[in-house]
Amino acid sequence: MKQVIVSGMRPTGKLHLGHYLGVIKNWVELQEKYECYFFAADWHALTTKYDKTDELRQNTLDVVMDWLACGIDPEKSVIYVQSLVPEIAELNIYLGMITPQNWVERDPTLKDMAKILKTKEGQGQQINYGLMGYPVLMSADIMMMNSDLVPVGSDQIAHIEITRDIARRFNNLYGEFFHEAKPLLNNCALICGLDGNKMGKSFKNDIKISDTEEDTAKKIMTAITDRSRMKKDDPGHPDECEVAFKYWEIFGNEEEISTVRYECEKGLRGCVQCKRQLGEKINSVLAPIREKRKYYEQNPQEVEEIIRDGSFRARQKAQEVLTQVRKLVKMY
Ligand code: TRP
Ligand code: SF4
Repeated sequence: MKQVIVSGMRPTGKLHLGHYLGVIKNWVELQEKYECYFFAADWHALTTKYDKTDELRQNTLDVVMDWLACGIDPEKSVIYVQSLVPEIAELNIYLGMITPQNWVERDPTLKDMAKILKTKEGQGQQINYGLMGYPVLMSADIMMMNSDLVPVGSDQIAHIEITRDIARRFNNLYGEFFHEAKPLLNNCALICGLDGNKMGKSFKNDIKISDTEEDTAKKIMTAITDRSRMKKDDPGHPDECEVAFKYWEIFGNEEEISTVRYECEKGLRGCVQCKRQLGEKINSVLAPIREKRKYYEQNPQEVEEIIRDGSFRARQKAQEVLTQVRKLVKMY
């Protein structure tokens, strides 16, 4: 019996290289060894963007298209949309009943979200009941498939800890049933944004999987380099080249990386030329992914079918779990 993996993303729009390298690439590998469930968390998107629902459907399609383009395979993994699996909402109710209020109030990720909402960027939004329930809903996502492992970034660990506490509480109250899901951190190096800060769409420092080659090349030209370098034949310092060289280390092969290092240190390579080459390199790595994405953009009905089929399969599993849960809780 394979172990079960569940992971999700809020559909906030087209994904960037940080998502690809930090999350999706890892998912692609996991689907070989585990029973995998990957979903677009559209209810979670509503916890803060309940007033922007016009974009939700397209954002969900975009996220799924990016996954498919990157190699998430609907033959190997179950790809679904959270709100198409209403069993999750029912499980959310049972879990909410057994979750002490202070467990969710303590959740550091939620505290951060609340802080952002109160700022100008968040337009002084209120914290709604639904947002308070974020960690419980996330527990329902995970426990719905009786998951063993949850691949997430380190910012999500607190959520997984609450999930484990809720699962324990359920098992103590109603009988041993749920597995205690563990976070699965991947140890790949994080790619920074073009300005050296964390890559994010709101910081306008990102490269999208779906960007054109021209856009990518242009964006790369803005990447931070060795700030101490004045002229192009000054000896450079790759290790102080905050962004461009780091990208080379991610996208180049060993030979390319050592050539760039050598030529930079000897003053044989100017930063403009170096970044032009880097843009070409990144474009060539992304070419097959972008080609696949184009295919899905031109065949959106195929994406719809994958979502319908995956959500159907997710529901079958969810219904099995829910039948057990209802029995254990002694519902009518
Ligand atoms: N909270 C996650 C994020 O913001 C998304 C998410 C929702 C999730 N439900 C999940 C991740 C269940 C893993 C498992 O990225
Ligand atoms: Fe960075 Fe390349 Fe310029 Fe060296 S030549 S500082 S590696 S951009």
